[in-house]
Amino acid sequence: MSESARKPVLFSGIQPSGTIHLGNYIGAMSNFLLLEKDFDCLFSIVDLHALTVRQDPAALRRRTLELAALYIASGLNPDNSIIYCQSHVPQHAELAWILNCFTYMGELGRMTQFKDKAASHKDNINAGLFTYPVLMAADILLYQTDVVPVGADQKQHLEITRDIAERFNAIHPGVFRVPEPYIPKETAKVMSLMDPERKMSKSDPEDSYIALTDSEDEVRRKFRRAVTDSEADIRFDPENKPGVSNLLSILSTLSKESMDSLVSRLSGQGYGKLKEEAAQAAIETLRPIQARYNELMKDKEYMANTLRHNAERAQALAQRTLRKVYKKLGLYQP
Ligand code: AMP
Ligand code: TRP
Repeated sequence: MSESARKPVLFSGIQPSGTIHLGNYIGAMSNFLLLEKDFDCLFSIVDLHALTVRQDPAALRRRTLELAALYIASGLNPDNSIIYCQSHVPQHAELAWILNCFTYMGELGRMTQFKDKAASHKDNINAGLFTYPVLMAADILLYQTDVVPVGADQKQHLEITRDIAERFNAIHPGVFRVPEPYIPKETAKVMSLMDPERKMSKSDPEDSYIALTDSEDEVRRKFRRAVTDSEADIRFDPENKPGVSNLLSILSTLSKESMDSLVSRLSGQGYGKLKEEAAQAAIETLRPIQARYNELMKDKEYMANTLRHNAERAQALAQRTLRKVYKKLGLYQP
């Protein structure tokens, strides 16, 4: 990422807090792949964010490495893009503190992810959960990011990031680039296989998502059990037929066959056929990813070196922004 050849900057992050699933792949990772060549990219494993809910330390460590391997296995190039752990770059936490002082309690209280998580973790509504979006803003703003590809659930966090950047810039002009979200409509929200009214989520029961590491048998079994409805016709109607529509979306995205063509080809064929095709498309998508993933997970030294080196690259970029921020704010820098 040399300054002279600066492409626009892309930043995104995924939490190492659970099993990475097909929703993450379709909603986030597959877009990273499409965009990688046109941007200077940073893909972070946001381990500090994961701490906002209690984690088992051994599991967190293992999942961090697994997520790094999945990023690379999905096709991202760590010699080009910066693939790194958030906690390896202390500037994230440092800028988050500063931005906390530019963020209002009221706006954080309106975040739906906070409200949801506060409801589902009643025994641990900690301050980190509340200021989660501020750390996310720091992630993004540290690198003068232009574009942030995320699933639709993160839209509100992007808006608050922009608000914080604009508020800061209004007082100290020209410090932060104001980022744009990138949320393609078709892939924005993959729904749960067991409850198609809810998004596919790591924190739900295993049968509700396809893990990127699921075996072919598991993938087939989970699609076969996917909740549909009591009719029999295949049409795309998320309102009245959320289960069938979700299967159609998944199949269309993975196979790149248009929705119109899919619906006319499958109409009258029954849900079994749709489920089988969706499973097959998922299996074919996952096969090369899993092969590369298994190789990477055996090469711990390569993984450690890659993460170490990329953290250094990220630190160098992050430090430039942080230095500017400290200076503007009047923090004495001898
Ligand atoms: P998370 O699993 O919450 O760390 O999310 C990582 C990335 O995957 C974010 O960009 C999310 O917006 C995206 N994502 C998570 N779940 C889904 C889903 N069910 N459908 C589409 N995108 C998703
Ligand atoms: N909050 C995001 C999620 O749960 C993860 C995340 C943290 C992120 N920092 C980010 C995404 C910066 C994009 C950019 O999915």
